[in-house]
Amino acid sequence: MSKAKLAVFASGTGSNYDAIIDAINNGTLDAEAALLVCDKPAAKVVEKAKHNGTPTFVFDPKQYAAKELFEAKIVEVLQEAEIDWIILAGYMRLIGKTLLQPFEGKIINIHPSLLPAFPGLDAIGQAFDAGVKVSGVTVHYVDAGMDTGKIIAQDVVYINDEMTRDELQSAIQQVEHKLYPATIQKLISGGESS
Ligand code: GAR
Repeated sequence: MSKAKLAVFASGTGSNYDAIIDAINNGTLDAEAALLVCDKPAAKVVEKAKHNGTPTFVFDPKQYAAKELFEAKIVEVLQEAEIDWIILAGYMRLIGKTLLQPFEGKIINIHPSLLPAFPGLDAIGQAFDAGVKVSGVTVHYVDAGMDTGKIIAQDVVYINDEMTRDELQSAIQQVEHKLYPATIQKLISGGESS
């Protein structure tokens, strides 16, 4: 059987993209990074993808009159590349109907909190400011809401009183980099269902 084709969507640094590539390279994730989709032409993740030889679709939303138009273009590119799964990895946009409908049940996201706590932007800062003693990471299916889709996997990070915000971020990211590739592997091998 051919490998599952992943399209990773990212807007920034791409440390989760790196973790997925590492897992593919070390054989723990049996998939192909078939495409990187990025909405920020200057993002670091674009350089990384070019360096790794991952095909890219990079666009500037400001060049399109409406979200439906750039999402329609993305769908075209995804279908052309015969993508099986959309992996959101720090893609900081809500997915609209145009992209959701043809890929419903095949789009997952990673979020840096224990959802449903702290959805939306700066989840790490929200948790830190709230003074919670336990936070973590959630992998979930994407629906039309903001971080509201069915939860697939979670892992916890304990926050002690001495921890700075940066230390919390780095603890969360370490957990993300293990949890995301492992969860994707379970999904593509049929171990989780929507
Ligand atoms: C990750 O921590 C991810 O969980 C978060 O953005 C970061 C991207 O980092 N996503 C969200 O907050 C989505 N609501 P990366 O570019 O280094 O992978």
